[in-house]
Amino acid sequence: MNQDEVRAEWDAEAAAFDQDPDHGLTEPATREAWWQLLSGVLPTPPATIADLGSGTGSISVLLAEHGYSVSGVDLSPRMVELARSKAALSGVTIPFRVGDAGAPELPRAAFDVVFARHVVWALPDQELALQNWLTLLAPGGRLVLVEGVWFNGAGISAARLADLVHPFVKTLEVVPLPDPQLWGREIDDDRYLLLATL
Ligand SMILES: C[S@@+](CC[C@H](N)C(=O)[O-])C[C@H]1O[C@@H](n2cnc3c(N)ncnc32)[C@H](O)[C@@H]1O
Repeated sequence: MNQDEVRAEWDAEAAAFDQDPDHGLTEPATREAWWQLLSGVLPTPPATIADLGSGTGSISVLLAEHGYSVSGVDLSPRMVELARSKAALSGVTIPFRVGDAGAPELPRAAFDVVFARHVVWALPDQELALQNWLTLLAPGGRLVLVEGVWFNGAGISAARLADLVHPFVKTLEVVPLPDPQLWGREIDDDRYLLLATL
């Protein structure tokens, strides 16, 4: 699939995207579960976060509401439009750009955290993207990735992702995410958070 086709596919997903509890984060228990998870791996706010493949902006907004300075990038204009509306409704300021997360047009060495949820699996050149992402981090910065291998077989395994990141970081940890509160239901597939530090 070329990038125009990928963009069209995600544009088509945008309107219904927030219907999944972990996407929209509209249920207080789900929202709180994500905050508890992320606050445990992020530096204390204020800190700068690049949310790559930010989708409808639910996580960006959650983090901005807790005092982080967030920048979002997504390939899909429709996703970005929804993310901008969500930020405006929540009263937070987040620059959301339409762009390729594989080669983000963001300042180098400027972010305390590079965050992406459910995005690496969808990128055509994961190795190159991850190397680009690491250049965005300030010294001592953190890479926080939420990924999985889902019931339908899509995704990227923790072992594969760790292999890609490991050569370039000082520490690396994989945290399994079986907690149903995060997903709004019981799950039996393989979901995880990878935390790496420079
Ligand atoms: C499964 S959604 C995750 C959205 C968001 N991170 C979240 O967890 O709610 C994947 C997102 O990645 C975006 N995406 C896919 N390929 C991309 C690329 N090359 N550059 C930027 N965004 C991309 C899609 O438009 C979509 O918004």
